[in-house]
Amino acid sequence: MRNLFPILMLITNLALNNDSNNNNNNFIDETCRATPNYSLCLTTLQSDPRTYEVKEGDDITTLGLVMVDAVKLKSIEIIKMLKDLEKSHPEWRGPLSQCYVAYNAVLRADVTVAVEALKKGVPKFADHSMDDVVVEAQTCESSFSYYYKLDFPIFNLSRDIIELSKVAKSIIKMLL
Ligand SMILES: *[C@@H]1O[C@H](CO)[C@@H](O)[C@H](O)[C@H]1NC(C)=O
Ligand SMILES: *[C@@H]1O[C@H](CO)[C@@H](O)[C@H](O)[C@H]1NC(C)=O
Repeated sequence: MRNLFPILMLITNLALNNDSNNNNNNFIDETCRATPNYSLCLTTLQSDPRTYEVKEGDDITTLGLVMVDAVKLKSIEIIKMLKDLEKSHPEWRGPLSQCYVAYNAVLRADVTVAVEALKKGVPKFADHSMDDVVVEAQTCESSFSYYYKLDFPIFNLSRDIIELSKVAKSIIKMLL
C-alpha cells in the first residue's frame, strides 16, 4: 500500500494540471474572441510562456504585455528588412527612410510607453500608443505606395504589425 501513495499523488497532480490548463485555455480563448483577430491573438498568446499560468481577469495585463511585445518583435524585424532593402535598392532611400523614422517611433516611443503604462497600471496611455503604431505603419506604407502600390516589399510584415496593434488595443481596452 505504501508504494501506491506516490502514484496517487502523481495522478492527482496530472488531473489538477489538466484542469488548470483548461481554465487557462478558456480564458485566453474568451479574451481572443473579443478581439478583431481571433486566430492571430490565439497563436500569439499561446506561443508565449508568460501566458501559461494566466487564468483570471487580473491577468489581462499579462496578455496585453505579450501582445505589445509581439508588436515590438515584428517592428525590430521590419527595421532589419529596411536596412537590407536600403542596400539592395538604394533608389528607395526616400520611402525607406520615412519607414525607418516611423518604426523608430514605434519602438522608442509607442512600445516603450505602452509597456511602462501597463506595468504601472495606467492602461489608457498604452491604448493611445497602440493607435499610434497603426498610424506609423500606415505612414510607412503610404510612403511606399507611391512607388509600388501592391508590390510593397514589406507589406505583409506591416499588415501583421497593424493587426497585432489592433488586437493589443482591444485587450488593453478590457483594462479601462
Ligand atoms: C509576403 O507577401 C508576398 C506576396 O505579396 C509573398 O511572396 C512573401 O512570401 C510574403 N512574405 C512573408 C514573409 O510571408
Ligand atoms: C489576422 O491577421 C493575419 C496576420 O496579419 C491576417 O493574415 C488575417 O487576414 C487577419 N484576419 C482578420 C480576420 O483580420
